[in-house]
Amino acid sequence: MSSSAATSVDTVPSEKSPVEIHKGINGLEKVILRDIRGSSVEIYLYGAQVTSWKNEHGEELLFLSSKSNFKPPKPIRGGIPICFPQFSNLGSLEAHGFARNRFWVVDPSPPPFPTHSSNKKYVDLLLKPSEEDTKIWPHSFEFRLRVTLGPAGDLMLTSRIRNTNTDGKPFTFTFAYHTYFSVSDISEVRVEGLETLDYLDNLQNRQRFTEQGDAITFESEVDKIYLSTPTKIAILDHEKKRTFVIRKDGLPDAVVWNPWDKKAKSMADFGDDEYKHMLCVEAAAVEKPITLKPGEEWRGRQELSTVPSSYCSGQLDPRRVLQGS
Ligand code: BG6
Repeated sequence: MSSSAATSVDTVPSEKSPVEIHKGINGLEKVILRDIRGSSVEIYLYGAQVTSWKNEHGEELLFLSSKSNFKPPKPIRGGIPICFPQFSNLGSLEAHGFARNRFWVVDPSPPPFPTHSSNKKYVDLLLKPSEEDTKIWPHSFEFRLRVTLGPAGDLMLTSRIRNTNTDGKPFTFTFAYHTYFSVSDISEVRVEGLETLDYLDNLQNRQRFTEQGDAITFESEVDKIYLSTPTKIAILDHEKKRTFVIRKDGLPDAVVWNPWDKKAKSMADFGDDEYKHMLCVEAAAVEKPITLKPGEEWRGRQELSTVPSSYCSGQLDPRRVLQGS
């Protein structure tokens, strides 16, 4: 990890991965990972939330609302919130669970990668429940989130959640990486990889429908949970001529969300017109909750990368997007 910025306030030493902690907005601490080619990632310890992912040209790839609260206990609006142990309001906890508004800690000596990885920058953040947390969710767990910046600027998030209950009890949870992608104009965006799939429509009491037609485009509010999705999904940004590729593992579902104008206006931490420049595609485990017995561990991974979009008489060639590398 490269050293950077005069804002650096602390260094958590580790043999392989010294992590620099900086003061961010409202004095909240954040970790910055930088690659020598110029790409970077910022992760707030509050929520273990990635709030920035920049490519080697310094272009921001994630959406972060200008109205976002960086005031606990409000969650940060944008970047990649972690929804755990509950997705949305599918249970008795607050919406999207509590992991996104807890303070995580940096593991000063994270386990090494299984394979040679000298050119990867990474940090491990840990969350264990407080006594207060066990009052609302009566379980003991260790959540290890590894955020990795690959040499080509790819961003990997790996969650390892372990049941550490000593009372012999299993627990069950739902999960999502609630990624807010930055797009130039939502009306010019399409998502490929979800065509013809079944989805639950959050705007229609979670009724089940089957997606019809071609790639998904946007002209009004959308809030759908696509089920049993492929491991690769693409978001094509026509105007930017850029395609985001999401690869995922252990996360069968994909939530697609854009609040559009009316809902945007009702959200205090979201600008009225900001819906035009964001799209959430969330790698998730929602339909079939995960159950862990004591001692068991679950792993859920998402890898984000970008490739230039290719045009051919107005049509994008999905083979180059979905079968490439
Ligand atoms: C999405 C949900 O994942 O998150 C939506 O499907 C929800 O229903 C959206 O509105 C934002 O949630 P929150 O709690 O961050 O405002």
